[in-house]
Amino acid sequence: MFRQALLAASRSGGARRVVETAPFTRDVVRRFIAGETIEDAARVTEALTGEGLHVSLDVLGEDVQDKGQAEANVTHYLGLLDRLGRAGLGARAEVSVKLSAIGQTLAEDLALDGARRICGAARSAGTTVTVDMEDHTTVDSTLRTVHELRRDFPDTGAVIQAYLRRAEEHCAELAFEGSRVRLCKGAYAAPEPVAFTGKEDIDKSFVRCMKILMAGKGYPMLATHDPRLIDIAGALAVLNERDPDTFEYQMLYGIRPQEQRRLAAQGARVRVYVAYGQEWYGYFMRRLAERPANFRFFMRSLAGR
Ligand code: FDA
Repeated sequence: MFRQALLAASRSGGARRVVETAPFTRDVVRRFIAGETIEDAARVTEALTGEGLHVSLDVLGEDVQDKGQAEANVTHYLGLLDRLGRAGLGARAEVSVKLSAIGQTLAEDLALDGARRICGAARSAGTTVTVDMEDHTTVDSTLRTVHELRRDFPDTGAVIQAYLRRAEEHCAELAFEGSRVRLCKGAYAAPEPVAFTGKEDIDKSFVRCMKILMAGKGYPMLATHDPRLIDIAGALAVLNERDPDTFEYQMLYGIRPQEQRRLAAQGARVRVYVAYGQEWYGYFMRRLAERPANFRFFMRSLAGR
């Protein structure tokens, strides 16, 4: 109920106005969001990569409803990738792209065209792109787009959400050599017929998916903060005799930073997903929905304590 209410609020204009104008919101937002500009993103990337971590940068701004904004977001990604390339950060920092930020809602081809240009710029900067997965109604379109992108850019990363009932099927299809696949639980509201909604069912699905990906020939990117799932991932790496550079753990900026460093110190590859930009509302509300403690922290800040 709590999660559903916050996810509904993440798409409500009224709730957005209340949250965005609340006096202490910005302090709390800063815990999860790296700043607003390319320079903020570059500074955080330099700090994280300097500590031995990898990064995936996400430019905030989703559900774009007009062509001009979609094009502006593509242009922003091109500028970001140019900056990463010039700073020599391409070996450790890639980008994550939401197709809804570059026009998917308007036309699939528009998003494909923008994503192609972003992939081209990523290649020039010596890095890669992962295409985020969004609301369940967009999954087929997003997988089609990733498939198209991979014709020219085979290192384009796909995302599978374990809460989807079709997740195992998607894992089996994508566990081939060279295929970079991020596995996450899924952060959007999704109805029973298409998704598991109980935590235990979602966790079990995550484990089944991990087993397929870790036994397969692709490059699994295991995106979770869940200590139990991280332990199981480690056990599956041993079982499948995977070297540390054949898969990676991924976590969000601001969440379990000590665990990120602990895993990296043990020799694991750890990538931190760093979101930045002005359009932080939807992303921020999904983080609050994930954990009652995050929401309580936010409410205490609003109360000025
Ligand atoms: P969950 O939220 O169930 O938390 C499990 C446990 O983790 C908690 O019980 C606690 O122990 C620990 N934990 C979680 N948050 C914590 C905190 N703040 N502090 C301390 N401990 C904490 N989603 C999506 O739909 N599409 C996408 O493309 C992506 N991409 C993506 C990339 C990356 C790198 C990550 C890490 C996540 C995503 N997600 C995503 C989001 C994902 O689907 C999911 O909503 C969140 O990762 C939260 O799920 P967890 O697996 O962490 O488990």
